[in-house]
Amino acid sequence: KQFNLVIKNGIVVTSGDSGPLDIAIKEGKIAYLAADIDANLAEKVIDAEGGYVMPGGVDAHVHVAQDFPSGANGVSAQCADNFESGSRSAVCGGTTTFLSFAHQNRCDPSILEVVEAYDKLAKESGSYCDYGYHVIITQPDIEMLQRELPVLVKNWGITSCKLFMTYAALQLRDNELLDVMFEARKLAITTMIHAENGDIISWLTDKLQEKGMVEPRFHAQSRPPVVEMEATSRAIVLAEMIQNPVLFVHVGSASAAEVIRSTQTRGFPIYAETCPQYLHLTWEDLASKKFHSPQCFENAKLICSPPPGPDNTDQELLWTGLRNGTFTIYSSDHCAFRYHDVRGKALGIIQHKESIEGSTCPIDDDHVHEIMHGKTGNFKYIPNGCPGLETRLPLLFNYGLAQGRITAERFVELTSTAPAKLYGLYPKKGALMPGLSDADLVIWYPEGHIKPFSLTNDHLHHDADYSPYEGMEFKNWPRYTILRGKVVWAEGELLGSKTDGQYQKRKPSQLTMSAVKTARTDRRRVATWLYQ
Ligand code: URP
Ligand code: ZN
Ligand code: ZN
Ligand code: ZN
Repeated sequence: KQFNLVIKNGIVVTSGDSGPLDIAIKEGKIAYLAADIDANLAEKVIDAEGGYVMPGGVDAHVHVAQDFPSGANGVSAQCADNFESGSRSAVCGGTTTFLSFAHQNRCDPSILEVVEAYDKLAKESGSYCDYGYHVIITQPDIEMLQRELPVLVKNWGITSCKLFMTYAALQLRDNELLDVMFEARKLAITTMIHAENGDIISWLTDKLQEKGMVEPRFHAQSRPPVVEMEATSRAIVLAEMIQNPVLFVHVGSASAAEVIRSTQTRGFPIYAETCPQYLHLTWEDLASKKFHSPQCFENAKLICSPPPGPDNTDQELLWTGLRNGTFTIYSSDHCAFRYHDVRGKALGIIQHKESIEGSTCPIDDDHVHEIMHGKTGNFKYIPNGCPGLETRLPLLFNYGLAQGRITAERFVELTSTAPAKLYGLYPKKGALMPGLSDADLVIWYPEGHIKPFSLTNDHLHHDADYSPYEGMEFKNWPRYTILRGKVVWAEGELLGSKTDGQYQKRKPSQLTMSAVKTARTDRRRVATWLYQ
């Protein structure tokens, strides 16, 4: 037979077009698109029955197999998911490629060694989907960067790094941010910025602690939107000064989005990402609209940084940003910590108890239920992050596309094409170009095909013990996920295996490359002499 697989009767959507087309797949690649492809030419046929057929999701912001250094007692928090469970969850939610973080701790002198160790974890556990890495830099020794960044790009195809402006163990000062951006620019490495003013956060946190305002819901009060806005503005000044385009990850506040928008309008190219938690959660949820009481420790489930906005005014403005291009990409920032786990959200109770009693209390997993019920804990010790890999596409589909907030083409651009372009995976990923693109697809149910259901954690395939979106209604969900021509998820059944996923060596970002070439000349903002 001429083709391995033909998908018939779908509405094929790319970031630019949509229409009734059939797709033929051969040897893992998109081979051919046409209005009518003869089913007899294929070994296998899928009837999409009028549902959308799109390039598989590319989730550019995922934390798996990562430990987070904690401020207290040397205990570090541990992600709920490793490569195996994270990637399993990915394919069951229509995502075929994710990028996760190899994390340099301050005591690690070499980022190459960090990447090698992280890669070992991936190889040991296997992956259901394709994957690649960003590197988190916390110790930006210039000689190390000059020596290792070129090797990172050449040997590993890692063309992006993430820098933090907050968290004691991660925070870089302005001069350190400049050092990395300056080196990154030479290689067109995309610099991702976690923009929150760490000094304001620790100052406000101390004040909240003095007042006894320590319950999980006060996490948001320790970092009001202006904290993100200030850091975003400052990072823009630094980036523009040395002409290094940056990407703001997990933008949660409308005020930060506004600064980003006005910078883009001014003509300095910067990119931004937002995530489901900022479109669906508010301070009210954190203060237990979802759970039992404002005092409830369960609110810890929704703690992430930056926090979601105070109310749905921010949410509406973020939706506007998704439509009008302020946001380049939409990612999950899947950073799952198990709720009932001594290395997860329970740290917020355990370390609180230890800090009061002045000694370490050995608590094992068996006792974790016992201690968590009726206790309030302290936000300061709760690991930050929410699960969201598997719900990323379904949320944007049901609450964005299906409700007319974004078009189908924009959906594909935000979830697949733009992240692929931004991180050097395009057109292998994020597109349906015959001969060039991997046959990575997500196929949705035709409208009205499945009975609307209310999400529970049992629907999901991660190793987290909850989802922030439990109780929300879904009318559609990925029906099939196809990875390089192989059907890995079909009608609620996982068919893939953890040997399916391949490491993706990436090229430099197409977006960053073009941005680096446009040097600007406003001496008020740019050190124009730097590159003369
Ligand atoms: O709260 C969050 N976002 N945790 C994940 C780590 C990060 O900063 O992306
Ligand atoms: Zn971050
Ligand atoms: Zn993150
Ligand atoms: Zn319990």
